[in-house]
Amino acid sequence: MTATTPPPGSRLHRALADAPGDRLVYDLAGVEAAYANLVRELPGVSVRFAMKACPVDEVLTCLARRGSGVDAASPQEIAHALRTGVPVERVHYGNTIKSDRDIAHAHRLGVRDFATDSLEDVEAIAAHAPGARVFCRLATDGKGALWGLSHKFGCSAGDAVRVLERARDLGLTPSGLSVHVGSQQMTAEAWDDACDRLADVLTALDRRGILLDHINLGGGLPAAGYLDQWGTPLEPPLDEIFAAVRQGMRRLTRVAGRRLAFLIEPGRHLVADHGAIRAHVLRLTSRERQDGARAHWLYLSCGKFNGLYEMDALQYRLVFPTHLGADAVSAVVAGPTCDSDDAYSHDHGLVEVPGAVASGDPVWILASGAYATSYMTRGFNGFSPLPLVCLPSDRVPPPRRPERIDDVTACAGGPR
Ligand SMILES: Cc1ncc(COP(=O)(O)O)c(C=O)c1O
Repeated sequence: MTATTPPPGSRLHRALADAPGDRLVYDLAGVEAAYANLVRELPGVSVRFAMKACPVDEVLTCLARRGSGVDAASPQEIAHALRTGVPVERVHYGNTIKSDRDIAHAHRLGVRDFATDSLEDVEAIAAHAPGARVFCRLATDGKGALWGLSHKFGCSAGDAVRVLERARDLGLTPSGLSVHVGSQQMTAEAWDDACDRLADVLTALDRRGILLDHINLGGGLPAAGYLDQWGTPLEPPLDEIFAAVRQGMRRLTRVAGRRLAFLIEPGRHLVADHGAIRAHVLRLTSRERQDGARAHWLYLSCGKFNGLYEMDALQYRLVFPTHLGADAVSAVVAGPTCDSDDAYSHDHGLVEVPGAVASGDPVWILASGAYATSYMTRGFNGFSPLPLVCLPSDRVPPPRRPERIDDVTACAGGPR
């Protein structure tokens, strides 16, 4: 067993039980344990935590102290990571989409590793981050993932060769290739397929005298605690996935015929299961539908716009601590806003909920730690972002702030 969700009685559950009101709680010891497990499973791999999944100071600091860097998608994220103690040499600018100004800003902040996937972007990197190391992102098909990420990012094998040749000609260091197999990837085959693509491009580049030294295996490692849209537990084959990644790394090293350094950029895998929301019931209703049948709807204080942005693609496990074992009714679960997207599917997403829940009763929303804070609106319909609580890890001293890091506003005069 290589990943777990916190069991009943865990620190996280006790904190949810003790919470006097709504909040999002992270267990830093759980995040640390997930990180330790990952580096045990993939020895020698350097982690660049995809901070978009949880841009929370305490989480970034705790991972940095364990040795992690970050995958950042903007100068604002880079400055944030630096403020929380992530060393700049462990910051990877992993977004292939960036303006001239963004590139120059990141370069001024000290970042030297840039992802790219087009000639236009690599030329901009050469102009605004001279001498930088570039990683070309290959497209994948996203099969087997809940979110495929297959169209907006990544290029073909042919383009990758052209982009890295251009990088070399412009004085950049063609450093690596990267992939992302799609978020919440449920199959080991996706990593096999990604390694096939990487191997072909490595060989083609070798023939042209471009000898890369890095492979970035991207994000996609799944969380353990989700249910699918129909309410069935998603059980990612994590042992098989890690075995496929290890095998892929051995194969790529053989193909290259030299030592390669491997990076990985997990987001949800490190944080999803170690964050949970304490929310409350607004109302359980029964309404006649247009076809005459009756339907229950359970409205919660938390939904798509204040923590559960991904509720249209999956379900979270719900616990009603004051109604354990009670008689249940099937209901559509929905958030508090006047927006009809703020709900699980009403066709196939019915959830068994206690029939006697009353307005104000607490509900715990488990494995909701990924993309919760970053996707939270600023108060859509007046529903404020949830307060955040981090349970300190015994092993981690409180965050130390660096003395001074240039922040975003310091760069207002940069190129446009
Ligand atoms: C470049 C990059 N790396 C890593 C991730 C993290 O993905 P995940 O949360 O699936 O691990 C993302 C997410 O979109 C990404 O864009």
